[in-house]
Amino acid sequence: MRSVKEYNSPHSTTADITGHDLFREEVIRGLQSHPKYLSSKYFYDKRGDELFQQIMECPEYYLTDCELDIFSNQTHELAHIITAQAVAPFDLIELGAGDGTKSKYLLQELLHQKADFTYLPIDISGNVLTQLESNLSDLTNLKMKSLQGDYLDMLGEAAAMSSHRKVVLFLGANIGNMNRLEAQLFCESVHRILQPGDQLLIGFDLKKNPQTILDAYNDHAGITRDFNLNLLERINRELEADFDLTQFTHYPMYDPETGACKSYLVSTVQQTVTMGDHSFRFNEGEWIFMEISQKYSIKNIQTLAAQSGFVIERNLTDQKNWFVDSIWKVI
Ligand code: AVI
Repeated sequence: MRSVKEYNSPHSTTADITGHDLFREEVIRGLQSHPKYLSSKYFYDKRGDELFQQIMECPEYYLTDCELDIFSNQTHELAHIITAQAVAPFDLIELGAGDGTKSKYLLQELLHQKADFTYLPIDISGNVLTQLESNLSDLTNLKMKSLQGDYLDMLGEAAAMSSHRKVVLFLGANIGNMNRLEAQLFCESVHRILQPGDQLLIGFDLKKNPQTILDAYNDHAGITRDFNLNLLERINRELEADFDLTQFTHYPMYDPETGACKSYLVSTVQQTVTMGDHSFRFNEGEWIFMEISQKYSIKNIQTLAAQSGFVIERNLTDQKNWFVDSIWKVI
């Protein structure tokens, strides 16, 4: 298991953050393990980013629309929860800001309310931040400073940079790509950096009809399948391996009891894959664990908040009650 110190954005670019050698090392470690696994943080090369964009447009992938529903229809409420804390200036820090579509609603509302704040988006990818700056260029009064790097490192820098109250956004159900223990360690790390009164807003995908969840990770067009297979293609390209993509099938599963939605790639034949000096033997039916997308109940979220030193101030849900943006305060 990765420690929190090593936790990286699911949108991290290997070349940017860890280097080619660490990518190779982690792939070897994962493929030599029993059972085999690969880290989903490596999904997001250029092609992976494009496929993720397409996933977000799939009719089955409801998560993005649900969170957009909250940000576009409860913007006033959201801004109020943040500004009601104090009139003093604050830093609005976003972990893994992406293209800023959702946060832009909040930024516009805060500017409209004449709140005194600085927006600090953090992302591992410089390209993402440049794109974000361009998407927000029409918000002429916005004070913004982009921070490129690891979430926790940059959050630490932001805390050292100003003594202003901090409001941290962690949207998109990115927390779901950590298992429950990793999520708790991550929240504890954020808590250690923040001060009493600071806020953390996290987007969680909620437990719901298991079929709805499974369909979101098994779209008819096969984009999620290609998203998973793209990591094998990336390993072929960047690490000179010889995965035959036609001999692996995408197998997503959802366990309603634990809320864990997991994706696997299953070898359809007995085969050996080589990568430089290394070879990895697969039995027919053997799988590689690719990704977890953990789903939460409100009770699970309360437990996570309490265990990591926060109190929940508000839970804002979308109209279907499928997604929650949970606003926590440091105690
Ligand atoms: C980025 N993350 C929240 C997505 C999710 O839902 O776990 C990644 C994803 N994997 C397959 N579809 C989308």
